[in-house]
Amino acid sequence: SPFLLAPMLMSLSRLRYKTVASPGRGILAMDESNATCGKRLASIGLENTEANRQAYRTLLVTAPGLGQYISGAILFEETLYQSTTDGKKMVDVLIEQNIVPGIKVDKGLVPLPGSNNESWCQGLDGLASRTAAYYQQGARFAKWRTVVSIPNGPSALAVKEAAWGLARYAAISQDNGLVPIVEPEILLDGEHGIDRTFEVALKVWAEVFYYLAENNALFEGILLKPSMVTPGAECKDKATPQQVSDYTLKLLKRRIPPAIPGIMFLSGGQSEVEATLNLNAMNQGPNPWHVSFSYARALQNTCLKTWAGRPENVKAAQEVLLVRAKANSLAQLGKYTG
Ligand code: 13P
Repeated sequence: SPFLLAPMLMSLSRLRYKTVASPGRGILAMDESNATCGKRLASIGLENTEANRQAYRTLLVTAPGLGQYISGAILFEETLYQSTTDGKKMVDVLIEQNIVPGIKVDKGLVPLPGSNNESWCQGLDGLASRTAAYYQQGARFAKWRTVVSIPNGPSALAVKEAAWGLARYAAISQDNGLVPIVEPEILLDGEHGIDRTFEVALKVWAEVFYYLAENNALFEGILLKPSMVTPGAECKDKATPQQVSDYTLKLLKRRIPPAIPGIMFLSGGQSEVEATLNLNAMNQGPNPWHVSFSYARALQNTCLKTWAGRPENVKAAQEVLLVRAKANSLAQLGKYTG
C-alpha cells in the first residue's frame, strides 16, 4: 500500500532533498547526453571524445569551493561511472565538495506518432533496475526531462503522454530510493507572448500533478524543474524580470502544492545574467517552496568558452564557473545586485 510505503520513503529521501534544496544553493546540471555534449565541445573546436568529456567534467567537479553554492550535480550515466583525469571517482569528488550526485535517467526524445510533429520521452522500460544500480553507484536523486512545444500545439496527446511518463518515472525512482526531479520543459521556441506560455504551463502542470497523485508519488520527496514563464524566444515583446517573476509565481501558486519542497528552474536558453535576474526577482518575498536553480547553459556557457580545451585555462574557467554559481546563490536568497 502506498500509505505504508510513505514513512519508509520519507526516511530514505528526507536528507537528500533537504540537502539539495538548501538555502543559497542550487543544482549544476552537467548531464548533457553524449550528443549534446558533442555540440558544446564543437562550439570550442573540440572533438566529442570520452577524454574531452572527462577533461571538461573534471574541470567542473573539481572547481574549488563549488559546494558553497551548488548542492547537487546532475550527471550523465558516463560521468556517474567515470573518474577524473587524476583517477578519483567523479562521485567521490562531488561528495567531498558536499554536493549530492544525481543522474539523468530518461533516454531522450523520439517522435510521437499521431501528434502534431511532437515528441515523447523514452526510458521507462528497465528503469527500476537502472535506478537501483545508480543508487548503488552513489546517485541520490534523478532527473527525467521531457518537452512540450508551444508552436507545435501542444496537442492534448503530447501533454498527457509527457505527464504520464513523468509520473511513472517519479514513482519508480522513489521506489528505488532516488528523489525524482520532475522536468516537463516548455520550450522557449516560438513567437507567442507570455500569456500563451502561462496558459500552456497551467495545463501541463495540472496534468503532471493529476498523474503524480494517481501514481501515489510522495510529494514531500519530489523536486520540480520547470521552465520560467516567459514570452517565446522569437516574440517581439520582451519581458522584464519583474514580469517573468509575477507570471511564474502566479503559475506556481495555482498549481504546485506546498508539500513540494523545492523548485529548481532550468535556464532553457536564457542568457546567464537573465537567468540570474529572473531567479532573484522570484525570491524577493517568502515562497512556500525553496525556489532555486538547476542550470546547465546559464552556469556553463562562459566557463566552457574560457576553457576552450586548453589545460592552461582550467583555473580561469573554474573561477568563471564560481562567479555564476555565486551570482545564482545570491539570487536564490533574493540578494543579487549585479
Ligand atoms: P538548461 O539550463 O541549459 O536549460 O539545461 C537544464 C537542463 O538540465 C535541461 O534538462
